[in-house]
Amino acid sequence: MAVGDVFDLFRLDDRVAIVTGGSKGLGEAMAYGLAQAGAKTVINSRTQRDCDRVAGEIAADSGQESLGIAADVTDETAVEALFGSVMDRFGRIDVVVNSAGINIRHPVEEFPLAEWKQVIDINLTGVWLCCREAARVMKPAESGSVINVSSTLGAVGLEQRSAYSSSKSGVIGMTRTLAKEWAQSGVRCNALCPGPFLTEMNVPIANDPAMIEPIMSRVPMHRWAELDEIKGAGLFLASDASSYVTGSELYVDGGWTC
Ligand SMILES: NC(=O)c1ccc[n+]([C@@H]2O[C@H](COP(=O)([O-])OP(=O)(O)OC[C@H]3O[C@@H](n4cnc5c(N)ncnc54)[C@H](OP(=O)(O)O)[C@@H]3O)[C@@H](O)[C@H]2O)c1
Repeated sequence: MAVGDVFDLFRLDDRVAIVTGGSKGLGEAMAYGLAQAGAKTVINSRTQRDCDRVAGEIAADSGQESLGIAADVTDETAVEALFGSVMDRFGRIDVVVNSAGINIRHPVEEFPLAEWKQVIDINLTGVWLCCREAARVMKPAESGSVINVSSTLGAVGLEQRSAYSSSKSGVIGMTRTLAKEWAQSGVRCNALCPGPFLTEMNVPIANDPAMIEPIMSRVPMHRWAELDEIKGAGLFLASDASSYVTGSELYVDGGWTC
């Protein structure tokens, strides 16, 4: 048995991480965690000024380089340009966290088709496009970790989430498939499945007992998660601490799925 410091397994020194949806919420929290572990980070969302602001704050907090690059993950050309810019700037991509996502809630009989397509486009096709670019860079490098942010709702149902749940179950299926495709190339792919975090996505339901009760009644811990509570799971999957973990789902959900 090799003797070493277990905390070294979690270090990301000299590695480069792209975090889609990194300008807010869970993506932002995970980007902070990766930078604190030594990674250079690229903060992505559709809004350049948010990306620049968060990248500046992360650089000041961690002392690591951080860059904001806006791109819509549903836009094939923009995603290719995002990965191309990161390769031009840093010459490597070690970690991709696919956190960009939206949620639109309606009973199915009232669900506009355009909104179904919007959810699937961002939450599923956007993840797939970024995975495709990740494979193009990471497989030749024979190294990398892709973290696809799914949800407890990828595993269990919840009223009014037909589009969201479908997209998040799809992310789990995609993750399992890519893990197999990449298993012998040194590239890992895992799904991170959060429970309820009070981010901007959940502001519309936060004060509505009719929407909150069905969630909290299913969460044994019976509380919202704190944003800091996603950082350890993100870092684990990004780092060598999870070097034999691929194709898995890591639930950070207060026990919802147990
Ligand atoms: N919050 C929860 O309770 C919870 C639970 C389970 C899973 N999740 C998942 O966790 C991920 C992050 O959610 P969150 O709660 O952190 O949401 P959030 O605070 O609303 O942040 C979403 C992020 O995604 C970006 N984004 C949205 N559409 C995009 C697009 N087409 N291209 C690029 N960026 C885009 C947003 O920035 P712009 O709008 O400026 O582009 C923002 O940075 C999502 O995949 C979500 O489904 C969240």
